[in-house]
Amino acid sequence: MEDAYKEGWLRAIGVSNFYPDRLVDFCNFVEVKPAVNQVETHVFQQQVQAHEYMEKYGVQHESWGPFAEGRKDFFTNPVLLGIGKKYGKSAAQTALRFLIQSGVIVIPKSTHKIRMIQNIDVFDFILDEGDMAAIRELDTKESLFFSHYDPSTVEMLTRLHR
Ligand SMILES: NC(=O)c1ccc[n+]([C@@H]2O[C@H](COP(=O)([O-])OP(=O)(O)OC[C@H]3O[C@@H](n4cnc5c(N)ncnc54)[C@H](OP(=O)(O)O)[C@@H]3O)[C@@H](O)[C@H]2O)c1
Repeated sequence: MEDAYKEGWLRAIGVSNFYPDRLVDFCNFVEVKPAVNQVETHVFQQQVQAHEYMEKYGVQHESWGPFAEGRKDFFTNPVLLGIGKKYGKSAAQTALRFLIQSGVIVIPKSTHKIRMIQNIDVFDFILDEGDMAAIRELDTKESLFFSHYDPSTVEMLTRLHR
């Protein structure tokens, strides 16, 4: 990929699910550092330490699953609903806004046009420090899916790419 980048075939190189240990190792042995690292990130798994290392190495943090794919009653979470109500926004919009204000790129997925419109309508309000602190409290620091530190997860993902 570095060769393709240097020859002008690629505009940027990105990686996904590189947790801090793997990212630090990687960045220290490549010539072209990744522009972006896409990892599971949402209000219940905020990836604070991972974010610090991405910032340190100049890698943009991008969230996959910004709504945790709806797990843990995401869209009816009382903290998100309560804060959103103050600004006339939904739990989904409040959660996206939290990530954006935390310096994280979001790529929410929806098959419904009305929700796509809702999900992009998050640039006309600003969460205050009290809101941000309340949402930070939701962080369980654990994946709601699977651990990329588990070798069997890595084997499963590797099989998908063969
Ligand atoms: N790199 C990786 O390992 C990895 C892993 C997983 C996902 N991803 C990527 O991450 C992106 C996000 O995808 P995701 O599907 O995993 O998770 P997500 O965006 O957290 O959740 C998607 C779910 O939320 C619902 N939804 C979307 N907007 C909503 C709204 N405003 N109100 C209520 N419900 C709403 C969707 O339903 P409807 O569709 O019915 O609206 C869908 O069930 C995708 O591009 C995916 O490819 C990457």
